Amino acid sequence: MKDVPTGTEPVLGVYLSTTIDLKSRYVSPGETRVRLLPPEEIEDPSAVQFALAWRPAPDDFTRYPNLKLISSIAAGVDSITNCPSLPEGVAVVRVRDEAQASRMAAFAAWHVVTHHRHMTELLANAAEGRWQRAAAPEPFHDWTVGILGYGLMGRTVARGLAALGYPVIAASRRGGEGEPGIEVVGGEGSMREVARRSKVLINLLPLTEHTRDVLNADFFAQMPKGAVLVQLGRGEHLVEDDLLEALDSGQLSAASLDVFRTEPLPEGHVFWSRPDIIITPHTASDTTPQEVIRQLADAVEEVMAGRSPANLVDPHAGY
Ligand code: GLV
Repeated sequence: MKDVPTGTEPVLGVYLSTTIDLKSRYVSPGETRVRLLPPEEIEDPSAVQFALAWRPAPDDFTRYPNLKLISSIAAGVDSITNCPSLPEGVAVVRVRDEAQASRMAAFAAWHVVTHHRHMTELLANAAEGRWQRAAAPEPFHDWTVGILGYGLMGRTVARGLAALGYPVIAASRRGGEGEPGIEVVGGEGSMREVARRSKVLINLLPLTEHTRDVLNADFFAQMPKGAVLVQLGRGEHLVEDDLLEALDSGQLSAASLDVFRTEPLPEGHVFWSRPDIIITPHTASDTTPQEVIRQLADAVEEVMAGRSPANLVDPHAGY
């Protein structure tokens, strides 16, 4: 019975990531309910009850036969649900964090305002010591902001932009109620309708088999000429060559990209040399390590007590 926690001992978990040194970041000194170790410090893999994971290796989960829970460090779980060794029947949870959603809203608003108000031109003028205004801003009613992905994050982004005065239209697979300044379009065809009506399109979708490659030539062709893409979802949503063609033809006028098919974006990648693309290094919005560990420990407690944890994802749906 040595693996069964007494209720006073911390439950043992493992950090699993091929890209981030989770051990150095995801610590929470005050949290006594869980104890996390990297794989090399685990003596008995059968004692490991849960994992904190981000881009695990394909066979990472096979070493731990008694896993009961796997948590992401973020809102996205695609690197876990797509992992070939993900055990069937183990609870997978993601982080759901209002502060993270607010940071995302601020980041998205910065990009919308940057494109609307020609901020890159103004900054370039200032860098050269030139006192020169940019073109007068187009009226808000010509700058409809479209949002793909309407969970906590999408709703928070929508509210922030609506509060600034932008008309907002959001595509929601499940449909849903609009709010003042926010129209929600549901069901089949909702993404196309949002594309058709958006001057700026913000992508916040989870990555699933249905959303991979959705930002493609056909999608861009639906958008009004000269529209802008703000890509904050996952790199695999975007067909990179289709974006370049849309920019070259003027179908899109600019793009902001925070996520990429290959991260870090490789040196010499064509995106780096494009003045019409704003690149940021997958930095739009993290959850603090303390909050990640707090939510993880709550989930571990629930699972060990035989209850269903909050923020459970459906591994087959992918979110
Ligand atoms: C970040 O990429 C997240 O999934 O929250």
